[in-house]
Amino acid sequence: MQIPRLHPDTIEEVKLRADIVDVVSEYVVLRKRGKDFVGLCPFHDEKSPSFTVSQTKQMYYCFGCQAGGNAIKFVMDLGKRSFAEVVLDLARRYQIPVQTLEPEQRQELQRQLSLREQLYEVLASCAQFYQHALRQSQGQKAIEYLQSNRRLQEETIQEFGLGYAPAGWETLYRYLVEDKRYPAQLVEKAGLIKPRKEGGGYYDVFRDRLMIPIRDVQGRVIAFGGRTLTDEQPKYLNSPETELFSKGKTLFALDRAKTGISQLDQAVVVEGYFDAIALHAAGINNAVASLGTALSLEQVRLVLRYSESKQLVLNFDADKAGTNAAERAIGEIAELAYKGEVQLKILNLPNGKDADEYLREQTPENYAQLLANAPLWLDWQIQQIIQNRDLKQATDFQQVTQQIVKLLKNIANSDTRNYYVSYCAEILSLGDTRLIPLRVENLLTQISPPAPTYSKPVSAKKAWGGSEKSPLPTERSLLEHAEALLLRIYLHCPEQRQVIIDELEERDLQFSLSHHRLLWRQILETTVEQEDFTLSVRVASRREVEGLISTLQNKYLELSEDLGLVSHLFHLNEKTKKEILRTPQVVQAAIACMDLVMLEKRYRHFLELWQQTDPETEPEKYQSYYQAFYAEKLKLQKIDRQRLFSITELL
Ligand code: UTP
Ligand code: MN
Repeated sequence: MQIPRLHPDTIEEVKLRADIVDVVSEYVVLRKRGKDFVGLCPFHDEKSPSFTVSQTKQMYYCFGCQAGGNAIKFVMDLGKRSFAEVVLDLARRYQIPVQTLEPEQRQELQRQLSLREQLYEVLASCAQFYQHALRQSQGQKAIEYLQSNRRLQEETIQEFGLGYAPAGWETLYRYLVEDKRYPAQLVEKAGLIKPRKEGGGYYDVFRDRLMIPIRDVQGRVIAFGGRTLTDEQPKYLNSPETELFSKGKTLFALDRAKTGISQLDQAVVVEGYFDAIALHAAGINNAVASLGTALSLEQVRLVLRYSESKQLVLNFDADKAGTNAAERAIGEIAELAYKGEVQLKILNLPNGKDADEYLREQTPENYAQLLANAPLWLDWQIQQIIQNRDLKQATDFQQVTQQIVKLLKNIANSDTRNYYVSYCAEILSLGDTRLIPLRVENLLTQISPPAPTYSKPVSAKKAWGGSEKSPLPTERSLLEHAEALLLRIYLHCPEQRQVIIDELEERDLQFSLSHHRLLWRQILETTVEQEDFTLSVRVASRREVEGLISTLQNKYLELSEDLGLVSHLFHLNEKTKKEILRTPQVVQAAIACMDLVMLEKRYRHFLELWQQTDPETEPEKYQSYYQAFYAEKLKLQKIDRQRLFSITELL
């Protein structure tokens, strides 16, 4: 578009009013660091923030890509737009009157106002109309309602711009369209009037309602909520979705709350308009309302922009008709909470009251106290699960355990998860501390990823797909296979011998099956007997392999031990020949497998010791066994299950 030449006063005013932090925050999530703000640079790709914004200097600078400038430059660079365009845009956003160098261009400018700008104007005009009507005789009952039912001070009514929509069918229509000459279509687009089904013309959307303006972050009216003053349904009527208003992207009172949120580093989200209003009136000015829907990801991101440590308290009605209101309200953000990207707390007020009701009887200090003590979301969820349950009853116990497992499974951070595993195990032990490890064990087993379905695939990829399912091999058959592989490789691949010895030593692993243990002992003896072991490893040839095997066979005969269990290791068939072709991987897989079995053994051993120890007489032992078995369990959980798959490939 053709931009008129702007008056220097307008440019100056824009520079003064368009706060750099505010402008940048629209596009970049900023965190306070010292007296500046930092965030991820929007001008280049980066993982850790090198983009800084100084409020005192009203400048931004990126240490990564050296981009820098003031608020105007920021918007110019980001949107690749001209100076005048950006100034004009910011002027509209901050409601700065635009002056041009040539006065006749003003009208032109007016015409160029985008639809959005015109909608803002219509809505502002409408808000004034409602506010005015509130002070007329027709608004009498509305103002009385605000004063006596809601106990609101004049100051609060003004601050929130509350108003009254008169009772007629087209009072607003006549004011905006006939008096103010706004095109009817525009007023309709603002969500304020609707075309009549028959006979043409329009009627007002809001009639005989108490009107609450909904504003965007910059404080511009974008929609309304209208509460009935009678028993009419719905109780609250809200503006439809428009060009300017999207319910899921808006939070009521955020324009007033953003400063409070950044000062207190915490946001409070309530359900109702009047809850937010009551909180602000009580001086708790970090509160916003969610407009009665489940919190969306966008709403949460929006509000968390202002809290450096991402703290959010949900103060929703405790329990609506037996359904878990807060659970629903959390909506999409549960995922954020599980990932730890929001520090979510839940506040339920006593007796199921909402904030507005509570503050009519209690002091703001009391509310602040409850706020400070609100439980973390996970603790709250656990409370909810065990509430009104009798864990001594088998069915309750089982159901509670199931729900807890479901909850724990979702926690992404393993430290947090382990913490809650212990915590829940304690709850499920009902005060009998001896039961804790059993509960821990149970929970861990249930929350660990489902046991791999062993298959006999052609490729590892297929093993993960798990298309050809076969029964899970037992621990023993897994071990039998792993140990046999290792022994066979040792015997037939001299170049792997040192690796195998080293690995076993390093991990302190033994052969578990007695026939393998015997063979291994014989092997070690034989190699020690050989004078130059290292040399023999290096120059080992086919002849040497055969030499070792025949020595071992002789030894078995000497000891009159049964060769039957190990003789298959001495010979290679087609299948085993292929197996040992991929020796390095196979050695690793076999070792990992043995490692796992050993860990499990140690775990069970400590668990048993722990259960046999009396905490009263031997508290230290009791403690150390507990720590030992828990440590083993954690190691077990960490073992890379993928490595296990490689061994099953060879089964
Ligand atoms: P509630 O029905 O929980 O009531 O609505 P409230 O806010 O405590 O209402 P009061 O105190 O009786 O006035 C909570 C929020 O849900 C939305 C509104 O945003 C309301 O503030 N809501 C509720 C609607 O949008 N439509 C409705 O019909 C009801
Ligand atoms: Mn209420």
